[in-house]
Amino acid sequence: MLQPPIELPADAALPPGLALRRPLVADHPAVVDAIPEWWGMPGTPLPLLLPPLFFQHFSDTSLLGEDAAGLAAFLIGFRSHAQPGVAYVHFVGVRPDLRGHGLARTLYEVFFAESRAAGCHRVDAITGVPNRRSQAFHASLGFAASGDTDFDGVRAWRDYDGPGEHRVAFSKEL
Ligand SMILES: CC(C)(COP(=O)(O)OP(=O)(O)OC[C@H]1O[C@@H](n2cnc3c(N)ncnc32)[C@H](O)[C@@H]1OP(=O)(O)O)[C@@H](O)C(=O)NCCC(=O)NCCS
Repeated sequence: MLQPPIELPADAALPPGLALRRPLVADHPAVVDAIPEWWGMPGTPLPLLLPPLFFQHFSDTSLLGEDAAGLAAFLIGFRSHAQPGVAYVHFVGVRPDLRGHGLARTLYEVFFAESRAAGCHRVDAITGVPNRRSQAFHASLGFAASGDTDFDGVRAWRDYDGPGEHRVAFSKEL
């Protein structure tokens, strides 16, 4: 499949030796293998939320970074069919040794620019109540958080993803 080229924001600086490309189905095992360690959740069922279909059908709106050590970062996102003006980030992860240098921000900025160019006016994402790091990250990027219930000081939508599966919803106007 011919993949769209990736244009970096003018002020973006990737870590030395890191290259960005579109993820392929062949990348799926490495990405799901990385999730438990990168999320700090050994044994988590989270990888089940990222089956190969995302790599089959949304590779052209997703991003993967790699360096000499292998997988460095990924953003799996897509543009909504049912809501044509809306794009959605399903997963984002950065290898722990590369964090805090703006890499996830760069992935999001590429996704924002591509979504805007495709006619989107909003980007959505969700995260779990305990994932304070993700909440801080999305707030830093200008996402508004929403929820209907207070869980230990975090507003989240009760049972959003099923019974007991409360989620903070994020939206950012482009
Ligand atoms: C969340 C995550 C993707 C951030 O990646 P990163 O490359 O370190 O983030 P960046 O360096 O681009 O940070 C962007 C902004 O978010 C803020 N931020 C990032 N991590 C943060 C943290 N742990 N606490 C507070 N703020 C944080 C940064 O301060 C920065 O703000 P600034 O640009 O205004 O200074 C990374 O920590 C990660 O992979 N976590 C595990 C997976 C995960 O939880 N993914 C999100 C849910 S799908």
